[in-house]
Amino acid sequence: MSPLFLVLLIIAFTAATTSTAPLPTTQTLDLDDARGHGHGYDQQLKSRTFLSPAFTLRPGSVSNKWYADIAFPRGHVALKSFNGEVVDVRGAPVPLHETYLHHWLVEPYYAASGGGGGQENIIPRANSGVCKGGALGQYFGLGSETRRTATWVPDPYGIEIGDPAAPPEGYEERWSLTVHAIDTRGAVDRLGCTECRCVLYNVTVDEDDDGYAGGLRCCYDQARCAVEEGFADGETRELFLRYTVMWLDWSDAAVVPVRIYILDVTDRAMLEGKSEPECKVEYTVEACSSENRARNECVDVKVTQEVLPRGGDVVYAVGHQHTGGLGTSLHGEDGRLLCRSTPAYGDGEEAGNEAGYVVGMSACYPEPGGAARVRGGEALTVVSNYSSERQHTGVMGHFYILVADEQEQLPAPEKQQLPSLCFSFPVSWCVPAWLSLYQQ
Ligand SMILES: *[C@@H]1O[C@H](CO)[C@@H](O)[C@H](O)[C@H]1NC(C)=O
Ligand SMILES: *[C@@H]1O[C@H](CO)[C@@H](O)[C@H](O)[C@H]1NC(C)=O
Repeated sequence: MSPLFLVLLIIAFTAATTSTAPLPTTQTLDLDDARGHGHGYDQQLKSRTFLSPAFTLRPGSVSNKWYADIAFPRGHVALKSFNGEVVDVRGAPVPLHETYLHHWLVEPYYAASGGGGGQENIIPRANSGVCKGGALGQYFGLGSETRRTATWVPDPYGIEIGDPAAPPEGYEERWSLTVHAIDTRGAVDRLGCTECRCVLYNVTVDEDDDGYAGGLRCCYDQARCAVEEGFADGETRELFLRYTVMWLDWSDAAVVPVRIYILDVTDRAMLEGKSEPECKVEYTVEACSSENRARNECVDVKVTQEVLPRGGDVVYAVGHQHTGGLGTSLHGEDGRLLCRSTPAYGDGEEAGNEAGYVVGMSACYPEPGGAARVRGGEALTVVSNYSSERQHTGVMGHFYILVADEQEQLPAPEKQQLPSLCFSFPVSWCVPAWLSLYQQ
């Protein structure tokens, strides 16, 4: 059985069991099969499901909240996956046509130990880049595609967190969660509400570049999208983000750490010869011209280049697009394909298969040492295609990639290898590590 298949089985198993189990639950899953796959460690994959604080929505309303110090695995661990979904008070999954999950973001920060976590005592701890100034600094984050996007970090890699030596003196690591959700029950224009069209929110945005038609600035926390008569005083309900985190204890495993980078197709700094990235995070796709429509060419292709500060192996990559998305791709400087990630659209009613919504993005797992090895300073090309049959506001074209640093390709350092059995009689000698593997 391939390790990936096994993992998918476990994810399916966890999803099936945690949806009915009381929360939070902890399960320890032994990957008996993990031995003999070349890493030689006893993998103790742990999985735990948590609930976010409740957020409240009524038809048309928006909730965009930042939660500090959320429930999260503690200690020095290697994160292996993060899966989430919106559920109601009974724990039932809520479909996107009722509550559109615009996005959720999970990000660590350092807070003064023992303190209440007031803003003044917080040191942000963003991922490794590429954007600056707090934009796209999350460790994990997805939108409507949450239910059907693989987040598994392939073996032997992991996202190292909770290193007790990492925080500055007097600080400790905590985790934050942002959830941006839009209640579209009874919406006069469902797609328009999910695309944050300003007219539907009765918001005017003063813009230097005039004509801001829609996007994050129009669907802020507590904003309200236009709903049909009869829904204006509609039922308020409490919702939660239920999330399942999988991890390995750092000491258990010879884990190779990976860096998280998020690329953004709106960052045109390099193409314009500027030194600092300018990630706008979202953009507008204009409806195609009648000439193009006549030629059946209603595809908006957006392309940019960004530089990775360090080289290494891309071991996981996934794109992020909104409704209308046709696919994203990431290329090396010579044009070679590093990953192509395409959206899956639902065709039903039920949660995870909502018609017309992006319910999943395909992820790439390139072979280390192959074509997806990138150089430090290499200019990568990001491509994001959207249908321009109609205008789309507030769309995104991001690539989330995990990169194992170049020097980490060497065999795992001594301390991470299995302890060898050593004896002092008749002379000092040790059973080689490869042999002690079979004695565990
Ligand atoms: C839209 O906003 C204007 C000005 O703030 C207000 O007068 C008007 O009643 C609002 N319309 C709706 C439908 O909420
Ligand atoms: C984007 O569109 C262009 C032009 O139609 C096409 O050549 C390319 O393959 C598309 N890429 C993806 C990832 O869909």
